[in-house]
Amino acid sequence: MKFKKKILCIGAGYVGGPSMAMIAYKCPDYKITVVDINQERIDAWNSSQLPVYEPGLDKIIKMCRGKNLFFSKDIKNQIKENDIIFVSVNTPTKTYGAGADMAADLQYVEKTARQILKYSQSSKIVIEKSTLPVKTALAMEKILSSAKGKIKFEILSNPEFLAEGTAVSDLENPDRVLIGSRETKSGLKARARLIEIYSRWVPLNKIMTSNIWSCELSKLVANAFLAQRVSSINSISALCEKTDADINEVANAVGMDSRIGNKFLNAGIGFGGSCFKKDILNLVYLCNYYNLREVASYWESVVKINQYQQERFIANILHTMFGTLAGKKICILGFAFKANTSDTRESPAIYISQKLLAEHAEINISDPRALNNAEIDLSGVKGKISYIEDPYKAAAGCHALVILTDWDLYRKLDFRKIYISMVKPAFLFDGRNVIDRKKCHSIGFNIYVIGKRALTHF
Ligand code: UDX
Ligand code: ADP
Repeated sequence: MKFKKKILCIGAGYVGGPSMAMIAYKCPDYKITVVDINQERIDAWNSSQLPVYEPGLDKIIKMCRGKNLFFSKDIKNQIKENDIIFVSVNTPTKTYGAGADMAADLQYVEKTARQILKYSQSSKIVIEKSTLPVKTALAMEKILSSAKGKIKFEILSNPEFLAEGTAVSDLENPDRVLIGSRETKSGLKARARLIEIYSRWVPLNKIMTSNIWSCELSKLVANAFLAQRVSSINSISALCEKTDADINEVANAVGMDSRIGNKFLNAGIGFGGSCFKKDILNLVYLCNYYNLREVASYWESVVKINQYQQERFIANILHTMFGTLAGKKICILGFAFKANTSDTRESPAIYISQKLLAEHAEINISDPRALNNAEIDLSGVKGKISYIEDPYKAAAGCHALVILTDWDLYRKLDFRKIYISMVKPAFLFDGRNVIDRKKCHSIGFNIYVIGKRALTHF
């Protein structure tokens, strides 16, 4: 079959895989190839066991793979063959040198730009999809503009706003698609080519264009605002626990104000995921770089509250369980950073598990999708850890249940059956506000839910 357009994506991760699958699904006459340096990842994308769990994704992959969607390791030839290239490689927080623990580590982006330069034999549009600090496009441009002869590269920014767990519907019905470009003749032409792709399924009034720097910054700011909402409601949850107010009632009342809105007001043990912390730290680094100290410390406080919320949760477990966890068995329900994903990057469960182990508790970890990642995250951590998928088996014989992920399945558990199998007095710490607390209290548990008065039998 002769394809109308050929598109390449470099980086087959949580963003590259699903977003390219959606283009392939919506544009059967386009050929989409996704490449990665990681052979295992590519093999997994080509197998029935995809490397990421994302509801609805396997169906789309099955429909398109081998027809107009391909996963490959042949980076060199794919760069040669495609003239529209998305870059979706990882941009973790730097762990070394200048800007350590704050700035984005751009080594993978830079390496990708150099690969594109090395293997290109014709002009190309290069599209940043990874979240990047403002002005990254400039660095890419500088590297790519050293191309010899007539080869020209146009850099676009097209940040991805999908959230894990809802990636398929977010990609299918995005609130907006943002495309940033240079406002030159060739920049606008490249912009139009990208609009042509998205307009296959996204209404034109949702495709927004801007200059490239606004585009890069908008993605960081969108994530910072979302994380700020989570930290705002979490900070109030601490106050609720002191004042007998109920965080759900407060969130509902506040969210009914149409200027505020009711989404993203669930109090819990704090945000995780690969984006929020990284992007805010990035924003803080940028503000400090431009000597905007007050602005930097304002945003830094969002991350501090997130950490505080986890410390508070752990301190409450320790204090409630008579000041010692040594030798006690604790069942952790949920290790993923949120429901409906296998992803555990920056999951609060990692830190909380480490702290419980440091108190010499034994932990049984249960999660329907994330146990493999949990084992990797905790490898090398000292202490007794068991990984048990069945929540009933994981809870049996434990002194406490600690809910760390809002999986729907935890709302539907038979808590009476669990209670009977546990050591008494049995404690239940709900870090995600998922249980029916009065019902669980009447079963016999001592209940501690974030942002609510404790219900105990003491
Ligand atoms: C986020 C952004 O939502 C997305 O637009 C961007 O592209 C990537 O970063 P993601 O990290 O996948 O997506 O998930 P999100 O749903 O935003 O949740 C992030 C964290 O905040 C999770 O740990 C979640 O549990 C937590 N959260 C979210 C809350 O604690 N309370 C809420 O009300 C909402
Ligand atoms: P994200 O959540 O942003 O998608 P991931 O870490 O899940 O991040 O995915 C990024 C992918 O990019 C990884 O699979 C990694 O192997 C890949 N990658 C990093 N550098 C390169 C490169 N130079 N060429 C090809 N793939 C790369």
